[in-house]
Amino acid sequence: MPVRLRITPARGRIGGVRPPPIAAAALLLVACAIAAPACAQPSVPTPSAVPAAELPSMLERGRLEFESNCATCHGMEARGDGPMRPFLARVPSDLTTIARRRGGTFPRSEIADLIDGRGMTEPGVHGTREMPVWGRVYRDQSEAQTRGTPFPAEWGVRGRILALAEYLQSLQRP
Ligand code: HEC
Repeated sequence: MPVRLRITPARGRIGGVRPPPIAAAALLLVACAIAAPACAQPSVPTPSAVPAAELPSMLERGRLEFESNCATCHGMEARGDGPMRPFLARVPSDLTTIARRRGGTFPRSEIADLIDGRGMTEPGVHGTREMPVWGRVYRDQSEAQTRGTPFPAEWGVRGRILALAEYLQSLQRP
């Protein structure tokens, strides 16, 4: 006697895949709604996406950067009198006299390297520095921002440091 096979079509299946229950589908929808704006925005705007007129100037970027990361120690006017000063072993430099202390010229790339700090290993003026090694701080942030994009992380680091150097140069007093 032949074995009778009963083939019942899988009910509720589309192409063999069971659709997610309503609750799961709703959850997925909510998750997408929350995540979509964050995913849709590229972390680094493409140059064409931002009208040139709306891009902050190098100087303006430097000022914002300075006020948010440097003024605590160096002071809003960059004269070395920030609120952190009493808690530091070394006096934060007066950054408006960099050129004066160097014979009247502002060594922009030397200052940029100094702010960066990654290339400085030997003990010396900045070897045992109290200043954070900004190159490392910015690199960590930049890596997080450029992950998955074609932008090299180092660009962001150099951009911020050069903007700072430009801003400091604009503050020099005779
Ligand atoms: C935690 C306090 C602190 C912060 C924050 C800080 N600095 Fe400094 N900075 C110092 C101290 C202290 C010195 C003096 C030398 C040393 O200790 O390395 C100094 C020295 C410098 C010098 C050398 C100046 C010279 O004439 O040789 C530059 C340039 C400088 N800082 C820029 C910056 C910039 C730009 C930022 C922000 C991105 C910043 N600093 C944030 C504490 C700080």
